[in-house]
Amino acid sequence: MGKVGVALAAACAAAACVTAAVMVSRRMKRRRGWRKVVTVLEDLEEGCATPVGRLRQVVDAMAVEMHAGLASEGGSKLKMLLTYVHNLPTGMEKGIYYALDLDDTNFRVLRVKLGGQRSTILDHDVERQPIPQHLMTSTTEELFDFIATKLKDFVERQENVSEFSVEETRELGFTFSFPVKQNSSSTGTLLKCTKGFSIEDMVGRDVSQCLQEAMSRNGLNMRVAALVNDTVGTLALGHYHDQDTVASVIFGTGTNACYLERADAIIKCQGLLSTSGGMVVNMEWGNFWSSHLPRTSYDVDLDCESPNPNDQGFEKMISGMYLGDIVRRVVLRMSQESDVFGPVSSRLLVPFILRTPMIAAMHDDDSPNLMEVARILRDTLQIPDVPLNVRKLVVKVCDVVTRRAARLAAAGIVGILKKIGRDRNGGTASSSKAKGGSQSKMRRTVVAVEGGLYTNYTMFREYLNEAMGEILGEDVAEHVVIRDMDDGSGIGAALLAASHSASLAIDNI
Ligand code: BGC
Repeated sequence: MGKVGVALAAACAAAACVTAAVMVSRRMKRRRGWRKVVTVLEDLEEGCATPVGRLRQVVDAMAVEMHAGLASEGGSKLKMLLTYVHNLPTGMEKGIYYALDLDDTNFRVLRVKLGGQRSTILDHDVERQPIPQHLMTSTTEELFDFIATKLKDFVERQENVSEFSVEETRELGFTFSFPVKQNSSSTGTLLKCTKGFSIEDMVGRDVSQCLQEAMSRNGLNMRVAALVNDTVGTLALGHYHDQDTVASVIFGTGTNACYLERADAIIKCQGLLSTSGGMVVNMEWGNFWSSHLPRTSYDVDLDCESPNPNDQGFEKMISGMYLGDIVRRVVLRMSQESDVFGPVSSRLLVPFILRTPMIAAMHDDDSPNLMEVARILRDTLQIPDVPLNVRKLVVKVCDVVTRRAARLAAAGIVGILKKIGRDRNGGTASSSKAKGGSQSKMRRTVVAVEGGLYTNYTMFREYLNEAMGEILGEDVAEHVVIRDMDDGSGIGAALLAASHSASLAIDNI
């Protein structure tokens, strides 16, 4: 080999060495990047851990806070609001009633025809309307005028001439899914805005009166016969179908629960309730807090950057409005700490861009290549070409965040059962011992549930049910039924309007 040949061979060898070195260094960088994201995931798992022992602490804390909230006004972060609903619908309600179900982004108008015999809802029509974006931050009058005109259109489309005479006043159940301090079963003032709702001039005003005035302004002859939280509507429909229903929970954009309480346990208003046996209490559990809740730095940041810091802490770990954003924050951290997602996408910096239905779709993706995950990362977050192992990582993040939410939700439900003595075999009603048998029989307990998070997100539902079994033990859990109550908040409000107008009629005889 000549000098030239030797030089060429040396140059080739050097180039090969450089290429190999570059490849090794790239591989090492990739490994370091991968190790970093795995560390982020492991920290998340540790921070979100909900072993059954911790869930039981949450159960106890929930029951303790319920007692405190019932003992005095402001005694707990749980407001334990009175609803003045003493009796739930019996099934004997009869006639045509309307409902308006308002949450932060939509409202639904309903017309319900009741047959007067147990569980006969002869007919019901629903229309869903989005609230235009600008009205969600406008004034009370503008919002209610818009709603009243839509309600009027709905009434005119639905009614036969023979059903109501011109002067006849129609009865309406108004579902208003925010914390309201009620003065009666049909009136109450808004305490604060939650979720995405921010019509500040409504706070402190009687929402029922505001709607009533808007209906008059718009020529609609209708009376607000019942003002109810969505939990209370759901409980009413649950109880209408099944009298063992004692509580209800909403898992939607927000979360909350209500239940039937003994009047003598509501210490903060003993005098007021002396004639009645019980009352439905709207817990406003979204604001529950306990040091036993597993909180991560993502939760802290989400809370600080929210319009209501230090508020609705339980809701921010559980409900549909927030789960997607917790996942977004974790993926952002992963992307900032490594290049497994490529360059950091500016979309990852946009709050609430990753919505909970998207994390449900990624979590439930059972295609072998996780095509739905790839699609959402590409279309929503503008992160293209994500390798399969990284897509699996994203699914795992969804899993950790949702599993924590569902297990905490289960602990909340068991907290209610504990407060009313339905969390163990002691919760006996018709004990067969009393009837001469030897074994005590656990009372059947039904909890009505409404909301897309529970209905549409399979893994959330499964984790919740699994945790109920773990906390209660299977022998007790088999007597606790979680029942999906589709449209409960709206239909239930119509039922309450019916039962309230029936009791008013009796009072007036
Ligand atoms: C509200 C509750 C409501 C729940 C579910 C919460 O943000 O404060 O009143 O029941 O959302 O809609």
